[in-house]
Amino acid sequence: MIYLKTDQEISKIQKAGKIVANCLKEIRSMVSPGLSLFEIDKFAEDFPKQFGGRAAFKGYHNYPASICLSVNDVVVHGIPDSYVLRSGDIVGIDYGVELDGYYGDSAITVPVGEISSEAIVLIDTTKSALELGIAKALMGGRLGDISFAIQEYAEAKSFSVVRNYVGHGIGRKLHEEPPIPNYGHKGKGVKLEAGMVLALEPMVNAGTYETVLLSDGWTAATKDGRLSAHFEHTIAITRSGPRILTLPDN
Ligand code: MF3
Ligand code: CO
Repeated sequence: MIYLKTDQEISKIQKAGKIVANCLKEIRSMVSPGLSLFEIDKFAEDFPKQFGGRAAFKGYHNYPASICLSVNDVVVHGIPDSYVLRSGDIVGIDYGVELDGYYGDSAITVPVGEISSEAIVLIDTTKSALELGIAKALMGGRLGDISFAIQEYAEAKSFSVVRNYVGHGIGRKLHEEPPIPNYGHKGKGVKLEAGMVLALEPMVNAGTYETVLLSDGWTAATKDGRLSAHFEHTIAITRSGPRILTLPDN
């Protein structure tokens, strides 16, 4: 069952989404060689409290932290630990906030110090793939239009899109229907309607799309050890086109 949201509900999701985006913006500016993952997690746990919100991932299916930090070959759901970031790393930062019963969810991948040209292209490609997917979030279209646009662009750059993890509907819960694969076929899948709120989140790998789950039960890494990047926005489909709900204030 896909729950369509009223304009009022979309505003509430956007309020949560703004906290997510403002926090990600702060973290992006903090990231540099020498910063530990624990320090980022602490910041993410505290940040939403001043607005009456809370970090939504903590305790979700027993997830143990307030944010997901996925370094280099980690695809998603990396658990913050004592690791200290070093120049050359890339770090995926995936964060959600619940405010007044509504959820926002967004992710960015950022460079630490000087990174390889492959890493730069991978990050840029994943960000662009998300933007192209958002542009297809149009009422009257199909979910597969979004999936296809993401896959087509990433693969044209000779990268691969992860199959084992997908985007999702969002709103009154962090994960709602429908699942949103980052691969698929134009014209297939559910019809897109005004009021759908979706978390689009391409995960793009430099090598194989295959992933392995580490023994902590959360961390997903690339099977071949090559780099992975991840971007995510929470968006609403409206009569006047896609509206991104996880943008910072300025
Ligand atoms: N954006 C991620 C997702 O939708 C974050 C979930 S992490 C979890 O899968 F810990 F909350 F599960
Ligand atoms: Co998500």
